[in-house]
Amino acid sequence: MHIDPVSPVIGAEVTGVDLATPLAPESFQTIHEALMTHLVLFFRDQELSFEQHKALGRQFGDLHIHPAAPKDSEHPEILVVHGDASVKFVAGDTWHSDVSCDVTPPLGSILRVEQVPTSGGDTLFASMYAAYEALSDRMQRLVRELTAIHDGRQYYVGRYGGENLRDGEYPAAEHPAVRTHPVTGRPALYVNEGFTVGFKELKPAESKALLGFLVRHCGQPEFQCRFRWRRNSVAFWDNRCTQHHAIWDYYPQTRHGYRVTIKGDRPFFDPSREPRAAVAP
Ligand code: SIN
Repeated sequence: MHIDPVSPVIGAEVTGVDLATPLAPESFQTIHEALMTHLVLFFRDQELSFEQHKALGRQFGDLHIHPAAPKDSEHPEILVVHGDASVKFVAGDTWHSDVSCDVTPPLGSILRVEQVPTSGGDTLFASMYAAYEALSDRMQRLVRELTAIHDGRQYYVGRYGGENLRDGEYPAAEHPAVRTHPVTGRPALYVNEGFTVGFKELKPAESKALLGFLVRHCGQPEFQCRFRWRRNSVAFWDNRCTQHHAIWDYYPQTRHGYRVTIKGDRPFFDPSREPRAAVAP
């Protein structure tokens, strides 16, 4: 297997592996370590049936079922990602971490795109480690003490309607605004444009201003990479330390894919695991 970083901050292209067959322990280890290091991995020419796609996801954890999207009765774990001339929206066309409005948001997502437009339809990925590290020490201290409110209604109402709700209502959750990655121990900003509606400890005007600032801050190109899809490309991203934005610039052409999402655990912030600051406070 060969791992080729696409930027110093985020993203790597992985070659020499067939994702349709179960990963041998060494290959699993290599991919898991690469995901921890590069946050999103890209694979080409991966033809996967729904069963193979789900089996790949299950090697990394139990599968998550989307709280609001329509579901296939046979494969409720498969989220269809589709854009064409007739649709009013496409999934993920704003900066977000998948389903951060769930109390236990997904660890990661594996998307395979089967049909691509002649150009466009790229996805942007951003490192939330880099976004956190680029804040001043004072701003880091402020956001570390905040609880962010995430509400599924903000993003799902008007997109999926209420007829397919997994739990009968739109999910909502409170999470630390900075979360400790459970594997790497690194702090990552956990606030996004799609789902975050404010901060519990702040007054409404303060909350709105800070959220606006953080959303703009997270969108800086220095924290990002951009993936150009081809038929049967796969992207595997870690939702705990990244955000992504699916660019809908290909209307009226068609883009079609399938996502398998892996269950995660409850976000936490553990200051004792934070790497020591370079400058004493
Ligand atoms: C998503 O899972 O948010 C969609 C990403 C994409 O279509 O590139």
